[in-house]
Amino acid sequence: LEATLSKSGVDWNTSANTALKSAATFWFLVAMIGQWLFVYFIVAFYYSPTLQGNFEAWSRNKMLPHGYVPGDTIGNLMFAIHVLLAAVLTLGGTMQLIPQLRARFPAVHRWTGRTFFVTALALSFGGLFMVWVNGRSNNIFGALSISLNAMLIIFFSIMAWKSAMARNFAVHRRWALRAYIVASGVWFLRLGYMAWIIINQGPVGIGKNGTGPFDILWGFGMFLLPLAILEIYLRAKDNGSSFAKFATAGGLVLATLVMGIGIFGAFNAFWRPLL
Ligand code: HEM
Repeated sequence: LEATLSKSGVDWNTSANTALKSAATFWFLVAMIGQWLFVYFIVAFYYSPTLQGNFEAWSRNKMLPHGYVPGDTIGNLMFAIHVLLAAVLTLGGTMQLIPQLRARFPAVHRWTGRTFFVTALALSFGGLFMVWVNGRSNNIFGALSISLNAMLIIFFSIMAWKSAMARNFAVHRRWALRAYIVASGVWFLRLGYMAWIIINQGPVGIGKNGTGPFDILWGFGMFLLPLAILEIYLRAKDNGSSFAKFATAGGLVLATLVMGIGIFGAFNAFWRPLL
């Protein structure tokens, strides 16, 4: 009996690990598709007019709090750099997470890592400048939440970089995942809005200029909720019981389904109409 029990114990543990790994892979595949759609939108909508200096063309996007502001030369230039780098960062982030790319082309991983690091800092400091110097945010709640997001991106990216330099890869992996998740905050922002509206069948708690209860909560939730899920995943993976691993796997699948609804909605509502 003991032998059977311990054998079944081993099996439970193995299947729990497999379940968690598959759920994480499923999550990443869906996220990657969604982030590539975002990159496609950014490149297709912003790149050509921005590189040609035709900043007025941004006004076609009615979702932008400010976009092109006549006379605000610095702010417009900051925004131009911001959208050009946004595609680089989002694409780079997904590349860093592809295990095959890491294993077979370590040099690519290192260069994409450096690129991610530099663009993450540029987007965050540039974003802080746009918000606090050029006054480019909807309201004080949005300004505070996106600034906290920026500070976390900067902090996690520095930690990921330092641990990679120290060749401490177990630690590097955790900081890099955290950096990736918070750097995806503005992407989660868009998905969250659409998943929320679709599931509630209407804009519940969404106010004018982003001052509704949902706007304020999700301003923080867009990066804190995915970060909390990541922390649960890391803990379950490294020292969770079989039960904790199964539960986390189930939670991840559920989160992925909601994320999928959000991607579908964001593409249809924000991205496709402008392409
Ligand atoms: C790190 C990842 C980030 C990415 C990928 C990103 C991407 C973008 C994109 C694509 C837009 C254009 C809006 C659209 O067409 O949907 C935008 C706008 C904007 N971003 Fe970011 N962003 C990031 C981080 C930040 C941070 C950390 C801040 C602030 C601290 C920030 C501040 C802004 C502001 C204020 C606008 C609107 C500017 C305006 O309307 O004039 N962004 N961002």
